[in-house]
Amino acid sequence: MHETREQVLSAIADGPVSGPDIASRLDVSRAAVWKHVEALREAGFTITSEDDGYLLSGVPDFGGPAVAYELDAPFEIEYHDAIPSTNARARELAGEGATDVVVLADEQTGGRGRLDRTWHSPSGGIWLSVLFRPDVPMAGTPVFTLAAAVAVTRAAREAGVEAVIKWPNDVLVEVDGEERKLVGILTEMEGEADRVSWVVVGIGINANVDPDDLPSEADAMSLSAIRGEPVDRRRFTQRVLETFDTVGTDPEAILDEWREYASTLGREVRIDTPDGEVVGEAVDIEYPGSLVVDTGEERVTVAAGDCD
Ligand code: BTN
Repeated sequence: MHETREQVLSAIADGPVSGPDIASRLDVSRAAVWKHVEALREAGFTITSEDDGYLLSGVPDFGGPAVAYELDAPFEIEYHDAIPSTNARARELAGEGATDVVVLADEQTGGRGRLDRTWHSPSGGIWLSVLFRPDVPMAGTPVFTLAAAVAVTRAAREAGVEAVIKWPNDVLVEVDGEERKLVGILTEMEGEADRVSWVVVGIGINANVDPDDLPSEADAMSLSAIRGEPVDRRRFTQRVLETFDTVGTDPEAILDEWREYASTLGREVRIDTPDGEVVGEAVDIEYPGSLVVDTGEERVTVAAGDCD
């Protein structure tokens, strides 16, 4: 959000406060204050103006300014009501040199999943991509996918949904004994082997969507369907971004929390890898995100693959 607009909003949140008061506090004209108040109203904030000044009495459910308001993470938010793909837009911004930007949308018209699959993204979801430039080698990037899975799972649990993580990057929920997909994560990057230039972590959260509007073969489920009521998308998005921001600094803490939420550990798995199939019991996760599988004969560390 525009810096002065943010300051006007925070003054009004602590209101009632008069226009002239805000103007002198921020050293801007009264007309500028009025313009920012009107822009905030247009963005969905409810601002009453009584004799004693402006007062904030409502924050919009979703949208860029709503998520930016009281967000405790250093991301700039670029919001779209509808966009083909937040990942595609974030990659475009990466090409322009941007960093620490979150592209957020209510609906995607060309959402992409792993293996070039279509990712259905109707209005009511939380479709977002985080663009940043970490100082890590290419091989270290899987930890950001784990961080995203941990962040979303933690937020889902805080919202009363017992989500679990399936290696490498699915967040699922069990319904009638079957695991259904709540969230998908698509991490893309560019750079040299010893240092990435940028990373885009795309997170698709089936938040307030009807599972009937999602393809049945995807076995999808939504937060609202589990809860029986909508989730607060503004708070949910903020929690994801705040957790994602803090977990990024401590990989061991991510791995520990990942182990706590994982449904994969302790299970028999069959993984298709570029070097063939690995079958056995998943026993641990290792930095930067490899699954350790006990085949009965040896312990194999699998960096990537499709897991059944
Ligand atoms: C998967 O196949 O499980 C990954 C799905 C990732 C979907 C998200 S939604 C936000 C971002 N934009 C995209 O086009 N894809 C990712």
